[in-house]
Amino acid sequence: MPIIEKEELASNLINGRYIHYTDCYSFQRLYPFCNENVSGYLDFLDLDGKSLLTVGSSADQTICAVTRGCRDITVLDICPFTEEYFYLKKSGILTLPKEDFERVLFYDDYPRTFKQNKDPFALEKYPRLLQQLKKESESSHNFWLSLTKSYSGEMIRKNLFTNDEENPKVTRYLTDYLKSESAYYETRKKLKDIRPTFMIENITHRIPVERKFDNIVLSNLTTYLSHEQIAELLKNLIPHLEEGGRIILGYMYRTNEFSIYCKEWDDIYNIERIKSIDPNIELKTFRGVKGVLHDMDSMKDAVYVYQKKK
Ligand SMILES: C[S@@+](CC[C@H](N)C(=O)[O-])C[C@H]1O[C@@H](n2cnc3c(N)ncnc32)[C@H](O)[C@@H]1O
Repeated sequence: MPIIEKEELASNLINGRYIHYTDCYSFQRLYPFCNENVSGYLDFLDLDGKSLLTVGSSADQTICAVTRGCRDITVLDICPFTEEYFYLKKSGILTLPKEDFERVLFYDDYPRTFKQNKDPFALEKYPRLLQQLKKESESSHNFWLSLTKSYSGEMIRKNLFTNDEENPKVTRYLTDYLKSESAYYETRKKLKDIRPTFMIENITHRIPVERKFDNIVLSNLTTYLSHEQIAELLKNLIPHLEEGGRIILGYMYRTNEFSIYCKEWDDIYNIERIKSIDPNIELKTFRGVKGVLHDMDSMKDAVYVYQKKK
């Protein structure tokens, strides 16, 4: 999609005009940060020196994988602004102290609970960030600069992004790179020469790659698919997976191995039925987003991990 069309679409979204670019309206907007425990489920993958195909317009799946030593990354997402947001976050991490990075991008419950950031997205206050962004990707630099010249940071943050944002304490826990100062600076070193391949695509229509990957991350996109679509997607992805490689096939909030399916829930929550698609699908649990919020290990989220046997 040419950058000029992206700028036009972004302006329409920021102005609140109803525009239907993708065939999945709700995913046109960017996620400011991941709202699932990425750090929790990446533990089930072997990323160091390995390759990854991932969705994730927040760029957090990508950046957390980099923190874990992954360098060969392809980002496929239906959201058209994913690449521009990755380069903005990358330039922020490379040039800003962690505190300033958070000051630019956190919004809800920032700086304190029940408050909202009064001055989000104030990119012009950070010339080093803008310089770096220009070096990283001139088109991304021009995209963000043209938006910040025309709209307030608050309008951009409210209308170009979803309002699915966990509070700062939770977000820091969910993302490897914001967990601590040292993790942030470690990620800075690893991120320097990372240039993922980006594709704007609906993964249920087409998987536009010829190659194979060691890891594939679908975040919670399968929540929005029927059982049959999930089975079909897995079948189409398996040829793109190396032997021994793994797929995070689905993410479930508030779920563990004992959860009993209720028929009004999305198909992905029907654990026995999803596992019946393939004997190589396992359910794995870890501290859930609500568990992080309430500091309770017993509140779990879960993912399905498919492993292609050697
Ligand atoms: C389902 S969303 C939810 C956000 C997620 N919980 C997180 O923490 O990042 C995950 C990502 O999948 C993308 N997505 C959703 N459906 C898709 C599809 N059919 N093809 C490609 N990307 C898709 C969204 O744009 C978003 O970036």
